[in-house]
This record gives sequence, C-alpha cells and structure tokens, in this order.
Amino acid sequence: MLKVILDRRTVRKYKQEPVSETILEQILKAGMYAPYAAKKMPFHFIVVKNQNTLLDLKNIHPFGKPLEKAPVAVVVCSDKKFEPVDGLYVSDCAAATENILLAAKSFNLGSCWLGLYPWNAITEKVKEYFSLPENIEPFSIITMGCPNEPEAPRPERYHEDRIHNEKW
Ligand SMILES: Cc1cc2nc3c(=O)[nH]c(=O)nc-3n(C[C@H](O)[C@H](O)[C@H](O)COP(=O)(O)O)c2cc1C
Repeated sequence: MLKVILDRRTVRKYKQEPVSETILEQILKAGMYAPYAAKKMPFHFIVVKNQNTLLDLKNIHPFGKPLEKAPVAVVVCSDKKFEPVDGLYVSDCAAATENILLAAKSFNLGSCWLGLYPWNAITEKVKEYFSLPENIEPFSIITMGCPNEPEAPRPERYHEDRIHNEKW
C-alpha cells in the first residue's frame, strides 16, 4: 500500500488500450469505499469512454489535455442531498478521487486528477453538458489508462521540518 502511495505520479499520456471492465469496476469500488461525512454514501461516478464525449470534456476543461487520448475518464460527483453541512462534499469527493488514483496505480494504470472544484464556471459547464440533476455536484474528472510516458522517478517529498511535534 505504501509503495502504491509513494510511487503514484500523475500520468497525462495513455496508450490506446481499453481498461478492462473488471479492473474498472475494482477501481470504482475503491472510490465508493472512501470515507465520507455525508449522511449516506454520496458518490456518483460518470464513466466516459466515448471519444466524442472525452473530446467535448477536453474542450470544456482549460487544462484537460489528458482527456484527448485517455481510454476512459471518470467524473466524480456527489449527491448534495446527503450533505449535513454545505461544502462537505468537497472532502468526500477528494477522498474518493484519491482512492481512485491509488487503485488505478495498484493496477499499473496511470491517472490524472483534473480539478473542477473550486472553478465554478467549468463545473457549471460539466453540469450542463451531462444535464445533471440540481442535487448532483461534479467535483473532479479523472483520466486513466496504460501509461504512454516514461515513469517519473519518486521525488523527495518528505520534509522533517514540516513535522511539528506537539506544538508549532
Ligand atoms: C485539485 C487538483 C486539481 C488538478 N488539476 C489538474 C488539471 O486540471 N490538469 C492536470 O493536468 N493536472 C491536474 N492536477 C494534477 C497535478 O498537477 C499533480 O497532482 C501535481 O503536479 C503533483 O504531481 P503528482 O500527482 O505526480 O504527485 C490536479 C491535481 C489536484 C490535486
């Protein structure tokens, strides 16, 4: 588990090979097992494999280039009906997004988190594009596929001076 966490890097270029349904299901399952503060499991995932839809999303998202060649993308959404406090869906969906990235890595797939939150204008366009119900809030788009770029080395990110024992 720790190796998956430390070795995960954003991958933005993918081979044109499809992601198997069995693997995709496991990855989405990992997303739904994320912790959430909502009253009920709030997650909805829109799975996109259609090339035209992927390109439409790429045109909506200003930093969405990874969508161009991705065999699959997942739009992580939350049902705000279950939100006990306004805004908590952000934490829920961030946890689900990270679970998906890590699960993808565990299957040797590359992935990229494309932020929607807190960019309201992009989020609104995605809502409109999928004609989402009012209570469904999209949070991120995740592209994934077999990596088609050299594996990035593990960077040094552990900084002892960022650990504050007992007090700042
Ligand atoms: C909230 C959030 C939004 C992001 N949005 C984008 C994006 O729109 N396009 C993109 O190519 N990468 C995006 N990324 C990926 C980051 O650029 C990447 O995670 C960061 O550079 C750290 O690299 P690493 O994931 O390899 O550790 C996003 C990441 C996060 C957490």
